[in-house]
Amino acid sequence: MSGDRLAGDAPAGGDRFAGDAPADDDRLAANKALWDELTAIHERSAFYDVEGFLDGASSLTRPELDELGPEVAGKRLLYLQCHFGLDTLSFARLGATVTGADFSGRAITVARRLAAESGLPATFVESDLYELPAVLDGRFDIVFTSWGVLCWLSDLTRWARLIADYLAPGGIFYIAEFHPFLFALTDESEEPRLGADSYFHNAEPHAWHNEGSGSYAAPDARVAAPVQYEWDHPLGDIVSALTAAGLTIEYLHEFPRLEARQRLDWPCIVPGEDGSFGLPNLPDALPLSFSLRARRRN
Ligand SMILES: C[S@@+](CC[C@H](N)C(=O)[O-])C[C@H]1O[C@@H](n2cnc3c(N)ncnc32)[C@H](O)[C@@H]1O
Repeated sequence: MSGDRLAGDAPAGGDRFAGDAPADDDRLAANKALWDELTAIHERSAFYDVEGFLDGASSLTRPELDELGPEVAGKRLLYLQCHFGLDTLSFARLGATVTGADFSGRAITVARRLAAESGLPATFVESDLYELPAVLDGRFDIVFTSWGVLCWLSDLTRWARLIADYLAPGGIFYIAEFHPFLFALTDESEEPRLGADSYFHNAEPHAWHNEGSGSYAAPDARVAAPVQYEWDHPLGDIVSALTAAGLTIEYLHEFPRLEARQRLDWPCIVPGEDGSFGLPNLPDALPLSFSLRARRRN
Protein backbone atom coordinates (compact mmCIF):
# COMPACT_ATOMS: atom_id res chain seq x y z
CA MET A 1 0.00 0.00 0.00
CA SER A 2 1.17 3.51 -0.61
CA GLY A 3 1.90 5.85 2.20
CA ASP A 4 -0.97 8.13 1.32
CA ARG A 5 -3.71 7.73 -1.23
CA LEU A 6 -4.32 11.44 -1.57
CA ALA A 7 -1.08 13.09 -0.61
CA GLY A 8 1.62 10.62 -1.49
CA ASP A 9 3.21 8.36 -4.02
CA ALA A 10 6.03 6.40 -2.40
CA PRO A 11 5.58 2.90 -0.96
CA ALA A 12 5.18 2.91 2.79
CA GLY A 13 3.06 1.20 5.37
CA GLY A 14 -0.62 1.48 6.10
CA ASP A 15 -2.46 -0.08 8.98
CA ARG A 16 -5.53 0.20 11.13
CA PHE A 17 -4.91 0.46 14.86
CA ALA A 18 -6.69 -2.21 16.84
CA GLY A 19 -5.87 -1.91 20.55
CA ASP A 20 -3.64 1.08 21.28
CA ALA A 21 -5.16 3.62 18.93
CA PRO A 22 -3.95 7.19 19.34
CA ALA A 23 -6.40 9.66 20.86
CA ASP A 24 -8.57 11.74 18.55
CA ASP A 25 -6.57 14.85 19.48
CA ASP A 26 -3.33 13.16 18.46
CA ARG A 27 -4.81 12.15 15.12
CA LEU A 28 -6.04 15.65 14.54
CA ALA A 29 -2.61 17.06 15.44
CA ALA A 30 -0.92 14.63 13.05
CA ASN A 31 -3.25 15.54 10.18
CA LYS A 32 -2.84 19.22 10.91
CA ALA A 33 0.95 18.97 10.86
CA LEU A 34 0.68 17.19 7.51
CA TRP A 35 -1.53 19.91 6.01
CA ASP A 36 0.63 22.74 7.35
CA GLU A 37 3.56 21.09 5.63
CA LEU A 38 1.62 20.36 2.43
CA THR A 39 0.47 23.97 2.25
CA ALA A 40 4.08 25.17 2.13
CA ILE A 41 4.75 22.68 -0.69
CA HIS A 42 1.53 23.37 -2.56
CA GLU A 43 1.71 27.13 -2.62
CA ARG A 44 4.90 26.82 -4.68
CA SER A 45 3.65 23.98 -6.89
CA ALA A 46 2.91 24.15 -10.62
CA PHE A 47 -0.23 22.14 -9.82
CA TYR A 48 -1.78 24.96 -7.81
CA ASP A 49 -0.22 27.66 -10.05
CA VAL A 50 -0.59 30.61 -7.70
CA GLU A 51 0.97 32.92 -10.29
CA GLY A 52 -1.67 31.94 -12.84
CA PHE A 53 -4.38 32.52 -10.25
CA LEU A 54 -3.03 36.00 -9.47
CA ASP A 55 -3.04 36.67 -13.23
CA GLY A 56 -6.76 35.91 -13.29
CA ALA A 57 -7.07 32.14 -13.83
CA SER A 58 -9.73 30.21 -11.90
CA SER A 59 -8.68 27.21 -9.85
CA LEU A 60 -12.18 25.74 -10.10
CA THR A 61 -12.74 22.80 -12.41
CA ARG A 62 -15.58 20.73 -13.75
CA PRO A 63 -18.07 19.72 -12.57
CA GLU A 64 -18.31 22.54 -10.01
CA LEU A 65 -17.75 25.32 -12.55
CA ASP A 66 -20.51 24.04 -14.83
CA GLU A 67 -22.96 22.96 -12.14
CA LEU A 68 -22.53 25.73 -9.56
CA GLY A 69 -20.51 28.53 -11.16
CA PRO A 70 -23.40 30.25 -12.96
CA GLU A 71 -25.41 30.80 -9.78
CA VAL A 72 -22.90 31.98 -7.15
CA ALA A 73 -22.93 35.71 -7.96
CA GLY A 74 -24.42 37.69 -5.10
CA LYS A 75 -24.61 34.63 -2.83
CA ARG A 76 -23.01 34.10 0.61
CA LEU A 77 -20.76 31.08 0.14
CA LEU A 78 -19.03 29.06 2.87
CA TYR A 79 -16.16 26.85 1.66
CA LEU A 80 -15.39 24.02 4.09
CA GLN A 81 -11.79 22.65 4.09
CA CYS A 82 -10.71 25.44 1.72
CA HIS A 83 -6.96 24.64 1.76
CA PHE A 84 -5.08 27.89 1.03
CA GLY A 85 -8.03 29.63 -0.52
CA LEU A 86 -7.60 29.52 -4.30
CA ASP A 87 -11.04 28.02 -4.97
CA THR A 88 -12.68 30.28 -2.39
CA LEU A 89 -11.13 33.32 -4.04
CA SER A 90 -12.11 31.99 -7.48
CA PHE A 91 -15.72 31.98 -6.26
CA ALA A 92 -15.20 35.59 -5.10
CA ARG A 93 -14.12 36.42 -8.65
CA LEU A 94 -17.46 34.99 -9.82
CA GLY A 95 -19.23 37.46 -7.53
CA ALA A 96 -19.88 35.40 -4.39
CA THR A 97 -19.38 36.80 -0.89
CA VAL A 98 -16.98 34.17 0.39
CA THR A 99 -15.86 32.65 3.68
CA GLY A 100 -13.28 29.86 3.69
CA ALA A 101 -12.49 27.62 6.66
CA ASP A 102 -9.65 25.18 7.20
CA PHE A 103 -7.81 23.74 10.22
CA SER A 104 -4.34 24.49 8.83
CA GLY A 105 -3.07 27.75 10.29
CA ARG A 106 -0.52 27.97 7.51
CA ALA A 107 -3.20 27.52 4.85
CA ILE A 108 -5.31 30.30 6.36
CA THR A 109 -2.30 32.63 6.53
CA VAL A 110 -1.54 32.02 2.85
CA ALA A 111 -5.23 32.40 1.92
CA ARG A 112 -5.42 35.79 3.64
CA ARG A 113 -2.24 36.90 1.90
CA LEU A 114 -3.60 35.84 -1.50
CA ALA A 115 -6.86 37.67 -0.82
CA ALA A 116 -4.86 40.83 -0.15
CA GLU A 117 -2.59 40.33 -3.17
CA SER A 118 -5.51 39.66 -5.52
CA GLY A 119 -7.67 42.42 -4.05
CA LEU A 120 -10.56 39.97 -3.63
CA PRO A 121 -12.74 40.40 -0.53
CA ALA A 122 -12.86 37.21 1.56
CA THR A 123 -13.02 36.01 5.15
CA PHE A 124 -10.79 33.09 6.16
CA VAL A 125 -11.27 31.22 9.43
CA GLU A 126 -8.83 28.78 11.04
CA SER A 127 -10.69 25.92 12.72
CA ASP A 128 -11.12 22.20 12.85
CA LEU A 129 -14.28 21.50 10.88
CA TYR A 130 -16.21 20.18 13.88
CA GLU A 131 -15.24 23.19 16.02
CA LEU A 132 -16.23 25.79 13.42
CA PRO A 133 -19.52 26.82 15.09
CA ALA A 134 -17.46 28.07 18.08
CA VAL A 135 -15.71 30.65 15.89
CA LEU A 136 -18.00 31.29 12.93
CA ASP A 137 -21.60 32.53 13.12
CA GLY A 138 -23.95 33.17 10.28
CA ARG A 139 -26.04 31.54 7.59
CA PHE A 140 -25.01 30.96 4.01
CA ASP A 141 -26.81 30.55 0.69
CA ILE A 142 -24.25 27.98 -0.42
CA VAL A 143 -22.04 25.61 1.54
CA PHE A 144 -19.35 24.13 -0.69
CA THR A 145 -16.59 21.55 -0.33
CA SER A 146 -14.51 19.60 -2.84
CA TRP A 147 -11.84 17.14 -3.91
CA GLY A 148 -10.15 15.25 -1.16
CA VAL A 149 -12.09 16.44 1.86
CA LEU A 150 -14.20 13.58 3.25
CA CYS A 151 -11.36 11.17 4.00
CA TRP A 152 -10.09 13.52 6.74
CA LEU A 153 -13.39 13.45 8.61
CA SER A 154 -14.25 10.85 11.22
CA ASP A 155 -17.99 11.50 11.53
CA LEU A 156 -20.28 12.32 8.60
CA THR A 157 -23.36 12.62 10.80
CA ARG A 158 -21.80 15.62 12.61
CA TRP A 159 -20.47 16.95 9.29
CA ALA A 160 -23.93 16.91 7.70
CA ARG A 161 -25.60 18.52 10.72
CA LEU A 162 -23.03 21.31 10.68
CA ILE A 163 -23.71 21.92 6.98
CA ALA A 164 -27.47 22.02 7.55
CA ASP A 165 -27.01 24.46 10.44
CA TYR A 166 -24.93 26.84 8.31
CA LEU A 167 -27.44 26.86 5.45
CA ALA A 168 -30.06 29.57 5.26
CA PRO A 169 -33.56 28.30 4.44
CA GLY A 170 -33.57 27.48 0.73
CA GLY A 171 -29.76 27.32 0.72
CA ILE A 172 -27.82 24.65 -1.13
CA PHE A 173 -24.98 22.33 -0.27
CA TYR A 174 -22.70 21.25 -3.12
CA ILE A 175 -19.85 18.77 -3.07
CA ALA A 176 -17.58 17.51 -5.87
CA GLU A 177 -15.40 14.69 -4.64
CA PHE A 178 -13.49 11.53 -5.52
CA HIS A 179 -15.85 8.57 -5.64
CA PRO A 180 -15.46 6.37 -2.54
CA PHE A 181 -15.33 3.35 -4.84
CA LEU A 182 -11.90 4.60 -5.95
CA PHE A 183 -10.49 4.11 -2.47
CA ALA A 184 -11.38 0.42 -2.52
CA LEU A 185 -8.87 0.04 -5.38
CA THR A 186 -5.20 -0.51 -4.74
CA ASP A 187 -2.96 2.40 -5.68
CA GLU A 188 -0.04 0.09 -6.45
CA SER A 189 -1.22 -1.77 -9.53
CA GLU A 190 -1.19 -0.62 -13.14
CA GLU A 191 -4.44 -2.53 -13.63
CA PRO A 192 -7.46 -1.39 -11.64
CA ARG A 193 -7.64 -3.97 -8.89
CA LEU A 194 -9.38 -4.16 -5.53
CA GLY A 195 -7.01 -3.49 -2.64
CA ALA A 196 -7.08 -4.85 0.88
CA ASP A 197 -9.35 -2.06 2.08
CA SER A 198 -13.06 -2.34 2.49
CA TYR A 199 -15.30 0.10 0.63
CA PHE A 200 -17.25 0.53 3.85
CA HIS A 201 -16.69 2.81 6.82
CA ASN A 202 -14.67 1.75 9.83
CA ALA A 203 -14.60 3.99 12.91
CA GLU A 204 -10.89 3.24 13.19
CA PRO A 205 -9.06 5.26 10.55
CA HIS A 206 -6.28 4.10 8.30
CA ALA A 207 -2.91 5.22 9.59
CA TRP A 208 -0.78 5.96 6.55
CA HIS A 209 2.95 6.22 7.19
CA ASN A 210 4.66 8.78 4.99
CA GLU A 211 8.09 7.35 4.56
CA GLY A 212 9.32 9.99 2.16
CA SER A 213 6.05 10.14 0.25
CA GLY A 214 5.36 13.01 -2.13
CA SER A 215 2.18 15.00 -2.58
CA TYR A 216 -0.54 14.76 -5.23
CA ALA A 217 0.41 18.32 -6.17
CA ALA A 218 4.17 17.83 -6.00
CA PRO A 219 5.09 14.14 -6.40
CA ASP A 220 8.83 14.88 -6.09
CA ALA A 221 8.47 16.64 -2.76
CA ARG A 222 9.33 14.64 0.34
CA VAL A 223 6.79 14.98 3.13
CA ALA A 224 8.27 14.84 6.62
CA ALA A 225 5.02 14.46 8.58
CA PRO A 226 5.31 10.83 9.68
CA VAL A 227 1.72 9.65 9.76
CA GLN A 228 -1.76 10.69 8.75
CA TYR A 229 -5.22 9.31 9.48
CA GLU A 230 -7.96 8.81 6.91
CA TRP A 231 -11.50 7.42 7.02
CA ASP A 232 -13.52 5.76 4.25
CA HIS A 233 -17.09 6.90 3.67
CA PRO A 234 -19.24 4.95 1.22
CA LEU A 235 -21.65 6.83 -0.98
CA GLY A 236 -24.67 5.56 0.97
CA ASP A 237 -23.28 7.05 4.19
CA ILE A 238 -22.74 10.44 2.53
CA VAL A 239 -26.28 10.59 1.14
CA SER A 240 -27.85 9.21 4.32
CA ALA A 241 -26.01 11.67 6.59
CA LEU A 242 -27.19 14.65 4.53
CA THR A 243 -30.76 13.34 4.38
CA ALA A 244 -30.82 12.65 8.11
CA ALA A 245 -29.67 16.24 8.70
CA GLY A 246 -32.83 17.40 6.93
CA LEU A 247 -31.43 18.20 3.51
CA THR A 248 -33.17 17.21 0.29
CA ILE A 249 -30.86 15.67 -2.29
CA GLU A 250 -31.48 17.33 -5.67
CA TYR A 251 -29.00 15.22 -7.61
CA LEU A 252 -26.13 12.81 -7.27
CA HIS A 253 -24.00 12.62 -10.41
CA GLU A 254 -21.34 9.95 -10.83
CA PHE A 255 -18.55 10.47 -13.36
CA PRO A 256 -16.27 7.86 -14.96
CA ARG A 257 -13.29 10.21 -15.39
CA LEU A 258 -11.21 12.70 -13.40
CA GLU A 259 -10.34 16.13 -14.76
CA ALA A 260 -6.61 16.79 -15.14
CA ARG A 261 -6.66 18.83 -11.94
CA GLN A 262 -8.15 15.94 -9.97
CA ARG A 263 -5.68 13.33 -11.13
CA LEU A 264 -4.29 11.06 -8.46
CA ASP A 265 -0.72 9.91 -8.84
CA TRP A 266 -1.70 6.25 -9.10
CA PRO A 267 -0.35 3.94 -11.81
CA CYS A 268 -3.85 2.72 -12.69
CA ILE A 269 -5.17 6.22 -13.42
CA VAL A 270 -3.97 7.24 -16.87
CA PRO A 271 -4.57 10.23 -19.15
CA GLY A 272 -6.86 10.06 -22.15
CA GLU A 273 -6.59 12.07 -25.36
CA ASP A 274 -8.63 14.92 -23.92
CA GLY A 275 -6.34 15.32 -20.87
CA SER A 276 -8.80 13.79 -18.42
CA PHE A 277 -7.89 10.64 -16.49
CA GLY A 278 -9.47 7.21 -16.34
CA LEU A 279 -8.87 3.54 -15.68
CA PRO A 280 -7.14 1.61 -18.50
CA ASN A 281 -9.05 -1.33 -20.00
CA LEU A 282 -12.22 -0.14 -18.28
CA PRO A 283 -12.96 3.04 -20.19
CA ASP A 284 -15.86 4.86 -18.62
CA ALA A 285 -17.04 1.67 -16.87
CA LEU A 286 -16.68 2.67 -13.22
CA PRO A 287 -17.31 5.83 -11.19
CA LEU A 288 -14.23 7.86 -10.24
CA SER A 289 -15.86 11.04 -8.97
CA PHE A 290 -19.24 12.43 -8.05
CA SER A 291 -21.06 15.66 -7.46
CA LEU A 292 -24.04 16.10 -5.18
CA ARG A 293 -26.41 18.97 -4.61
CA ALA A 294 -28.77 19.15 -1.66
CA ARG A 295 -31.12 21.84 -0.38
CA ARG A 296 -32.25 23.00 3.02
CA ARG A 297 -35.92 23.63 2.40
CA ASN A 298 -36.76 25.68 5.50
C1 LIG B 1 -7.25 17.99 -0.41
S1 LIG B 1 -7.49 19.49 0.47
C2 LIG B 1 -8.95 20.17 -0.23
C3 LIG B 1 -8.68 20.56 -1.59
C4 LIG B 1 -9.29 21.85 -2.03
N1 LIG B 1 -10.63 21.64 -2.51
C5 LIG B 1 -8.40 22.39 -3.11
O1 LIG B 1 -8.70 22.13 -4.29
O2 LIG B 1 -7.40 23.00 -2.78
C6 LIG B 1 -8.11 18.98 2.03
C7 LIG B 1 -8.19 20.12 3.02
O3 LIG B 1 -8.88 19.64 4.18
C8 LIG B 1 -8.31 20.30 5.30
N2 LIG B 1 -8.68 19.53 6.50
C9 LIG B 1 -8.38 18.24 6.78
N3 LIG B 1 -8.92 17.87 7.95
C10 LIG B 1 -9.60 18.95 8.42
C11 LIG B 1 -10.37 19.18 9.59
N4 LIG B 1 -10.55 18.24 10.50
N5 LIG B 1 -10.94 20.40 9.75
C12 LIG B 1 -10.75 21.37 8.82
N6 LIG B 1 -10.01 21.22 7.70
C13 LIG B 1 -9.45 20.00 7.49
C14 LIG B 1 -6.82 20.33 4.99
O4 LIG B 1 -6.12 21.30 5.74
C15 LIG B 1 -6.83 20.63 3.49
O5 LIG B 1 -6.73 22.00 3.26
